[in-house]
Amino acid sequence: MRIGVIGAGRMGGILARHLAKRGHHVSIANSRGPDSVTALAAEISATPVSVVDAAKAGEIVIIAIPTKAVADLPRALFANVPSNVVVIDIGNYHPELRDGRIDAIDRGMLDSQWVAQQIGRPVIKAFNNILAKSLLEKGVPRGTKGRIALSVVGDSLDAKAAVLRLVDDLGFDPVDGGDLDDSWRQQPGTPAYCQDLEAAALRRALAEADRSRIAEYRRKGATRRATGGAATTSTTRFVAGRSEDAHL
Ligand SMILES: NC(=O)c1ccc[n+]([C@@H]2O[C@H](COP(=O)([O-])OP(=O)(O)OC[C@H]3O[C@@H](n4cnc5c(N)ncnc54)[C@H](OP(=O)(O)O)[C@@H]3O)[C@@H](O)[C@H]2O)c1
Repeated sequence: MRIGVIGAGRMGGILARHLAKRGHHVSIANSRGPDSVTALAAEISATPVSVVDAAKAGEIVIIAIPTKAVADLPRALFANVPSNVVVIDIGNYHPELRDGRIDAIDRGMLDSQWVAQQIGRPVIKAFNNILAKSLLEKGVPRGTKGRIALSVVGDSLDAKAAVLRLVDDLGFDPVDGGDLDDSWRQQPGTPAYCQDLEAAALRRALAEADRSRIAEYRRKGATRRATGGAATTSTTRFVAGRSEDAHL
């Protein structure tokens, strides 16, 4: 498939790398223009492009940037992108760690609903609840014992099916997590967030989440990371062959 990736950091770089390795035609962009992503693109056999061209480059477009940066994307980025192009939001709102306050989310809008509103089109939420290191290292062929499962949510059945196939292609068991309105079940700090669960356990974790605790989950996740608790996981940043530790 043709796949555009907006964001060339930890997650965007790893997704682009794995997708290109599986034979997809990947175009990748960051905030600083194609020249700044040329080395990474060459290394992983992708095409360096601008953000505008990445949005136009795929049957699937993956948004892999900090949530706060979604508001900085070019206006009407997707205005002329055909409606059957699938847009994936992999983002997580981390107010304390990175994003500052986004009032609409603090008032109850779900992370990906806010992203969809900002970009003016529906999104599928996926890949937000796996750490970069696991995404990089833990994909395995279908049927492998202990294969990690990833949940995918969204309102279009066709778009969701395409992303479920992509999850499988990348080495993870795909789990349909419901509509975008269910996406809170895999937001930061929930039982289904970045736990590397197998499919049955992931379904249970999604089911046991409690909507009244969204803010508490988010705080809990941030506190664990800040204090080096169980949820703190060192991830590895891969940029043009270099690697450096970084936190989610
Ligand atoms: N890291 C993880 O383990 C992990 C796991 C699951 C989900 N996520 C989510 O994935 C998203 C990306 O995280 P990350 O860890 O990959 O971040 P990262 O390593 O900091 O990379 C962020 C990328 O976004 C790009 N970017 C920022 N603003 C942009 C803009 N306005 N237009 C185009 N590109 C822009 C940056 O480009 P420049 O360098 O040019 O600014 C950079 O390539 C976040 O929402 C995060 O919550 C992360």
